[in-house]
Amino acid sequence: MQNAFKDQMLAGKVAFVAGASSGINLGIAQHFARQGAKVVVISRSYEKIIAAAQTMTDEGHSAMGIAADVRDFASVDAAFKQAHDSFGKVDIVISGAAGNFVAPALGMSSNGFKTVVDIDLIGTFNVLRASFQYLNKPGASLISITAPQAVNPMMFQAHVCAAKAGINMLTKCLAMEWGPAGVRVNAISPGPIGDTEGMARLAPTPEMEAAVKARIALRGYGEKRDIADTALFLSTDNARYITGSIIDCDGGSKLGDAGPDALGEFK
Ligand code: HXC
Ligand code: NAP
Repeated sequence: MQNAFKDQMLAGKVAFVAGASSGINLGIAQHFARQGAKVVVISRSYEKIIAAAQTMTDEGHSAMGIAADVRDFASVDAAFKQAHDSFGKVDIVISGAAGNFVAPALGMSSNGFKTVVDIDLIGTFNVLRASFQYLNKPGASLISITAPQAVNPMMFQAHVCAAKAGINMLTKCLAMEWGPAGVRVNAISPGPIGDTEGMARLAPTPEMEAAVKARIALRGYGEKRDIADTALFLSTDNARYITGSIIDCDGGSKLGDAGPDALGEFK
């Protein structure tokens, strides 16, 4: 991942990234490690999270993988304790664990709906709530990974829309409650990001992918480094007066259908 910022912006910091065995969150963890942070990554799969941590230690960075399910508060709390005991107080928390499948509401059971709400919304509450006693306060930065589904209703995504909308409101409530302790609470809403499980599920064919890309103002998918750079900004002192914000990093996709050619003869 290329670095648009000066090196080692997170030297001396400790970052805890939930849902980081793959995809966008692993990209954030790796970017943070290259910026000098000691990084703890968690996910359900022991094998996957150990391998994820190893991608960072192989480059000479300090990183540790812990298997923990964000649906289980005790396992998240234990992971924070282990992180704190090994690396010290936590400066940055990324809550990005999520689950998704494409199904109409009538095609999912109550447990199917609950599963996604449990991972995305309850999991985010668990991660942020558990983090509080381990944080380096004042100055800590908490960031949840939400999605456009939080504000744009989407067919076949009732579970994800409901869960991510909850994350947006949770972000704002915790920002109000924890601001006096010097803890900033924000969220990043990525647009469609290439080479991710999320888009593999939402646009599985080349035709669907091309159709999505053609409607985005900046045309095309974003990259994992786009979200990593946004998370880096929010994690530094440059963002010291930003809290309770949902930051869109989406090429303008939230604006709606930008497919028609408005430039035409003016190109
Ligand atoms: C209907 C489904 C289903 C489907 C699962 N279920 N898949 N229902 N259609 N395609 C139902 C099951 O039948 C079951 O209900 C319930 O969901 C739980 O299923 P399990 O497989 O037991 O759950 P679990 O092992 O906990 O797995 C969770 C999961 C899985 C979400 C279902 O896909 C997963 O682990 N996902 C993690 C990876 C992921 O999704 N990454 C993408 C993140 S992107 P019953 O009633 O049968 O018990 C993202 C979207 C962002 O979040 C937006 C992008 C733009
Ligand atoms: P991904 O690679 O599937 O990442 C999801 C991660 O969550 C995996 O590491 C998974 O690891 C972990 N996870 C799932 N359930 C968990 C649980 N119960 N406890 C702990 N960890 C769990 O997907 P992605 O596409 O990169 O998405 C990452 C984040 O970005 C998600 O929050 C998603 O909603 C958001 N997002 C993605 C896009 C996109 O274009 N991809 C767009 C908007 C928002 P294990 O399987 O090892 O547990």
